[in-house]
Amino acid sequence: MRLILVGPPGAGKGTQAAKLIERLHVPHLSTGDMLREAVKQGTELGRKAEGFMKAGGLVTDDLVIPIVVERLQQADCAQGFILDGFPRTRPQAEALAQALTSANVALDAVVVIEVPDELIVERITGRRQDPVTHTIYHTKFNPPPADVAARVVQRSDDTEEACRARLKKYHGETAPIIPFYDAQGLLRRVDGVGDPQDITQRTFQALGLA
Ligand code: AP5
Repeated sequence: MRLILVGPPGAGKGTQAAKLIERLHVPHLSTGDMLREAVKQGTELGRKAEGFMKAGGLVTDDLVIPIVVERLQQADCAQGFILDGFPRTRPQAEALAQALTSANVALDAVVVIEVPDELIVERITGRRQDPVTHTIYHTKFNPPPADVAARVVQRSDDTEEACRARLKKYHGETAPIIPFYDAQGLLRRVDGVGDPQDITQRTFQALGLA
């Protein structure tokens, strides 16, 4: 299955992607993870991307599009993939469409996880990640187990200020791509408020996997 997950920061895209890959056995392509890895490794891409990310801005299309197009050409994407955090702008959506057409494949669905802005800041500022297993936790909604709690880390863009900037970018640049997919009959809207397990159920139902 070839899927895109769209939603505001903290909507639960990463949380739900983890459940979908368990079920679908396809790679999880998160541009946020790819960019954070580039920053960590200190590559040229990472150095260029870091400032945009810390401030809650978008990394420019000329940097992001090539890494996704190249990743999609790798053998493990032949049977499907879950794109998380890409596309985020209209040029990215168009570049993806072109890459898929060239590869003679098509998207199966675009899942939009909908969460109101007022819930987002609490989710983002409470997020923690285990650097060893990469499991995502939340200080209140999904606290890490005692043996993991001491090593969890907070993302540098998970401050309230950067979160508000990310939300603004989402509404200004990413939400406008939703009608592009709606017009193609690919859109599946999922209510992202509630217990994460219920949202997994809703997502599976929306995709005909339940
Ligand atoms: P990215 O890493 O993609 O960040 P994002 O889209 O802002 O999304 P998040 O990872 O913050 O949230 P999520 O929806 O995955 O939520 P999660 O499951 O973790 O991008 C980071 C940055 O990289 C961008 O700002 C940009 O600078 C750059 N970038 C990336 N892609 C780009 C692109 N294509 N173009 C340009 N720039 C790009 O959940 C959040 C928290 O809530 C967790 O703690 C979780 O435990 C908790 N939670 C999850 N579900 C629930 C629930 N149902 N109830 C309560 N808590 C929940």
